[in-house]
Amino acid sequence: MMAERELDPKAPPGLHLLSAFLAMETTDTLLSLARECGGGKITDEVQTFICNECLDFSIGKGNEYMKKFLKKIITEVESRNGYVSDDLYEEYVPYMTSSKDFNLFKETGRILKCISFLFHADCVELSSCPSSRNLVVELQCSLNMLEGDTGCSIWPSCLFLSELILSFPHIFLGKSCFEVGSGVGLVGICLAYVKASKVILSDGDLSTLANMKFNLEMNHINTETDLPETSTENPKLVKCIHLPWESASEKELQEFMPEIILGADVIYDPSCLPHLIRVLAILLSKKKSCDKNQKGSLRNSSTEVTCADGKANSSSQGQVLNAHGSDSSSSHAYDISITGVNNAASLGSRADPVAYIASVIRNIDTFNHFLALADQANLTISDLTSTLRPLDLLPYMRSYDRSSIRLFTVTSK
Ligand SMILES: C[S@@+](CC[C@H](N)C(=O)[O-])C[C@H]1O[C@@H](n2cnc3c(N)ncnc32)[C@H](O)[C@@H]1O
Repeated sequence: MMAERELDPKAPPGLHLLSAFLAMETTDTLLSLARECGGGKITDEVQTFICNECLDFSIGKGNEYMKKFLKKIITEVESRNGYVSDDLYEEYVPYMTSSKDFNLFKETGRILKCISFLFHADCVELSSCPSSRNLVVELQCSLNMLEGDTGCSIWPSCLFLSELILSFPHIFLGKSCFEVGSGVGLVGICLAYVKASKVILSDGDLSTLANMKFNLEMNHINTETDLPETSTENPKLVKCIHLPWESASEKELQEFMPEIILGADVIYDPSCLPHLIRVLAILLSKKKSCDKNQKGSLRNSSTEVTCADGKANSSSQGQVLNAHGSDSSSSHAYDISITGVNNAASLGSRADPVAYIASVIRNIDTFNHFLALADQANLTISDLTSTLRPLDLLPYMRSYDRSSIRLFTVTSK
């Protein structure tokens, strides 16, 4: 008989099961990872691991998620005529015998998820790789995807942008960064982690903004709403601002003039797109950014980027998207034409500002409308999806389909 594998919470497959539990992946995902831990079945050792490592975290204590998870594991073991450990039964008894409503989310609608970025052996050389090999970010978010104008949930593109930042930290190191539609604040936490010189997060929804600040503080990052310019040059300090695209004035936006602009899953509401494009066009305006750069932030303008494979990247090719041109050879559903190379933008090695926008294209008409508006505003959009691929730092997260996400840069023509 094959010896059972030792389950270690610091190494796969135990680490993947624990990380998935903390990120509140579906109970089907947990069951599948638990099976992987036991080489195909929920062994005694897997049950002990669940009791000692997963159930120990207050994250799931006494709630519906824990109840479902325990029930799923016990049902699986029983259905295979296996032996359910006393400890596991003991954990489940209160859920069976109590008439208490375990759905603790009802009142607040908020849950706490821990997103663990797992740096594997290939990325130990990466400056963003923590000595523990795991970067764990705690996030309060909502079960209701629409709460806070959708900003209180974790959307896939912000996971993608976070992986991008951690995979290519040199693009963001020492750069002033500004995010639009920041939601739960995960991207900002990663930017602070890789030591962007300045991080400004923004959102148009006030409840989202409050939740974002809560998340930053929970992760030991100071937030300020109204700081003097000089004091934001502190990587552990992230500024959170209320910025509805519709009402943001040119003057207000020109105060920021960041080197890098970011946006995750912000292309979805056609009525907001003209305003989003206007905000991007002002933030990307070259003249002001050159003036600012001349004042002293050029020091990072020629940062070399080391790719995930450890090789210096000097010729990343971007595809420039054009709403009006069509390319019959394109494999994409939307109009696309390859008209040039955008090396510097992809590498963040230019003085002109660049925006990194990650998006799931849910509606092709909305996306084409975005391209058309960008063209009218003299913005160039390049598709970097196949050239700037982040490392898979969330291997346990089966709810996250990275292949559905596209990465674009936006620059001013
Ligand atoms: C789908 S969520 C994405 C949130 C986050 N970037 C993520 O990927 O998890 C869209 C975000 O854009 C913000 N947003 C939508 N319309 C906006 C507007 N007109 N002005 C400013 N923010 C807006 C929402 O409040 C929300 O936080």
